[in-house]
Amino acid sequence: MPASWKPFHKTMKKSPRTKAPKPTRTVSIIGTGSYVPERILTNADLEKIVETNDEWVTSRTGIKERRIAAEGEHTSHMATHAAKRAMEQAGIEASEIDLIIVATVTPDTFFPSTACHVQRQLGASNAACFDISAACSGFLYGIEIAQQFISNNTYNTILVVGADKLSSIVNWQDRNTAVLFGDGAGAAVLRYRAGSHGVITTFMGSDGNYGDILHMPGGGCAIPVTKENIDQRLNTLHMSGRETFKQAVVSMLAAANKALEQSGLTVNDLTCIIPHQANLRIIEALAERLDVPLSRFQVNLDRYGNTSAAAVAIALDEANRTGRFEVGDYILMVVFGGGLTYASSVVQW
Ligand code: ACO
Repeated sequence: MPASWKPFHKTMKKSPRTKAPKPTRTVSIIGTGSYVPERILTNADLEKIVETNDEWVTSRTGIKERRIAAEGEHTSHMATHAAKRAMEQAGIEASEIDLIIVATVTPDTFFPSTACHVQRQLGASNAACFDISAACSGFLYGIEIAQQFISNNTYNTILVVGADKLSSIVNWQDRNTAVLFGDGAGAAVLRYRAGSHGVITTFMGSDGNYGDILHMPGGGCAIPVTKENIDQRLNTLHMSGRETFKQAVVSMLAAANKALEQSGLTVNDLTCIIPHQANLRIIEALAERLDVPLSRFQVNLDRYGNTSAAAVAIALDEANRTGRFEVGDYILMVVFGGGLTYASSVVQW
């Protein structure tokens, strides 16, 4: 990275949405759902795969176990399970969905999109479909896209899914990364609901200068799939752990403050904060800097590890279903991921 490049938070431009936008149509999250595969891989199980131990993984990350997709279980299958649960809670039929957005970095296939695979599995024949690639930030990017489409009258009902099968791109010989990730999916149905509560604001940001601190170098047109490239494990996830940790704290803090500023709220207005589930120490650092007790954060990474685009969506669904917030409460979701990407969203439930 050229020395002249400044950390992104110092160059962050004034958001075009610094003031809370006046939504022309209220966009509500009318249903959430999630799915994790049955197979549990504990830290003790990992001790048999790489040189690690439960004490190291627990104390450095907070992760105790993660879920691993079954043979033949792909990202779209997990996404479809989560979507069905969200649709059931929302009380909608597949035919009512106008658009399906799947956020993933582990698509079933480069094309068709995973969203198209999900469409077929759901029978959502009236929907347009596409995937978005924003790594762990993808679900909130999807929420913002859905909010825009609904509030400008293009669509009424949108299914947003964050789903990833990170086990398919992890280098299982690299203890630095193998212990961190898991598989899963989370979904939300968004719909125009007159006179109701909903998404107040979403902030999205990126800094491509930090692209190589967390990336999969191979598999695209730059480094195509060849035997030689696969032998060098270029088609697996590569990460500079310490640098990612630092940027995660800085970017999530900046994103959280931006969404609060845009919504005209303060942290004291928030009933629940739902952060990206990468590392408990990252969440603790964020809690300290926001001056909010950890108990107000929804944390499930001890059970699932980092499920990438699914993480915040699964945590949202768990918080919703366990009554962490009630109608009228304000919640903040905040994420970061490869790219570097980051995003935050304030929702009045
Ligand atoms: N088991 C045992 N020892 C390990 C393991 C392991 N699994 N992994 C690394 N170590 C060792 C290292 O080799 C190093 O040993 P050394 O001192 O002899 O060289 C030592 O532990 C310390 O390594 P650090 O990298 O300093 O450990 P750190 O405290 O930074 O924790 C970690 C590493 C957990 C990866 C942390 O940096 C982190 O969480 N970073 C952020 C990761 C993240 O959030 N990634 C996801 C981004 S989201 C997305 O887009 C997918």
